[in-house]
Amino acid sequence: MNAFEATTTQREFMFHLNHTPTDFIIEGISDVPELQVLIFLLVLLIYLATLGGNVAIVLLVCLNSHLQVPMYTFLANLSILDMSCSTAALHKIFTMSLSKEISYLSCLAQLYIFSSLTSDQFWILVAMSYDRYVAICKPLYYHMVMNGRHCALLVSVCWVLGFLEVVPHITTLSRFTCYRSNKIDHFFCDVLPIREITCSDTTSLDLCLVIIGLTHLTSTFTLTLIPYVFIISSILNIKSNTGRQKAFYTCSSHIAVVLIFYMTIIIQYIASKSTKSNASNKVFALLNTAIVPMLNPLIYSLKNKDVKLALKRMIKN
Ligand SMILES: *[C@@H]1O[C@H](CO)[C@@H](O)[C@H](O)[C@H]1NC(C)=O
Repeated sequence: MNAFEATTTQREFMFHLNHTPTDFIIEGISDVPELQVLIFLLVLLIYLATLGGNVAIVLLVCLNSHLQVPMYTFLANLSILDMSCSTAALHKIFTMSLSKEISYLSCLAQLYIFSSLTSDQFWILVAMSYDRYVAICKPLYYHMVMNGRHCALLVSVCWVLGFLEVVPHITTLSRFTCYRSNKIDHFFCDVLPIREITCSDTTSLDLCLVIIGLTHLTSTFTLTLIPYVFIISSILNIKSNTGRQKAFYTCSSHIAVVLIFYMTIIIQYIASKSTKSNASNKVFALLNTAIVPMLNPLIYSLKNKDVKLALKRMIKN
């Protein structure tokens, strides 16, 4: 019996609820009081930076007519997703000193909102990739293909896909009727920490997670990658050096964001396979829910001339 199983049986012995609790208790990141204050301040700081950066992006795009092109309206949508996702995952950390309790329904709602917003982000990255493909490989058709109506349609499809694809595993989870404890050892209601305290049969949940997870990741990854295969071959065919640099320049920020997204997924996957410790899983969850959402605005404002220029102009006025 390993340490993980030992603690699980211990818990089972201590609180065998055998029914769905009306409230869950979110245990948070650490139970050391000094550490709690430090974590609270650190996460608050990162969260404020995330809000500041992403609100700035949305404002810049909404207030500057020359940023109202698909590339930036997609980026503004990504910023809104980043902020909402971060808020959904982190808000309990901020109110934890008042109450660690969360009702069963709020917990499911939090799980649903957080999961669907997370999948939405992947679909928006696909849309952004497709946008760069049309801009670089089919420049003559760009204004026709990427007109306002098509963009709105593309963005709506992305949002709807994200909200639909998490329905199966969340409905499966909501059917669980047996819990051995109501203590969620995490800082928000995520699937795996809830799965850990259920005594219902998790076979169908696991199946849902694997099938949907794999389908989601392979389809979004391939759909993000394929446009880039065409983009890169088309960039390599450009004769002039400056033309090549310019074409590469317009997609470099997006490539950076895509890389960070998939890197954190891979790191989290490897980490969860190699360690069963809840502490390190929480740290990686923080990386995903606090740090990554803060990075997009940074990448775009540091690397992108249009955004930098708009920012300068806004500060001057
Ligand atoms: C999100 O994308 C749609 C479609 O391109 C656009 O109309 C909308 O303004 C975007 N949202 C923001 C906040 O820019």
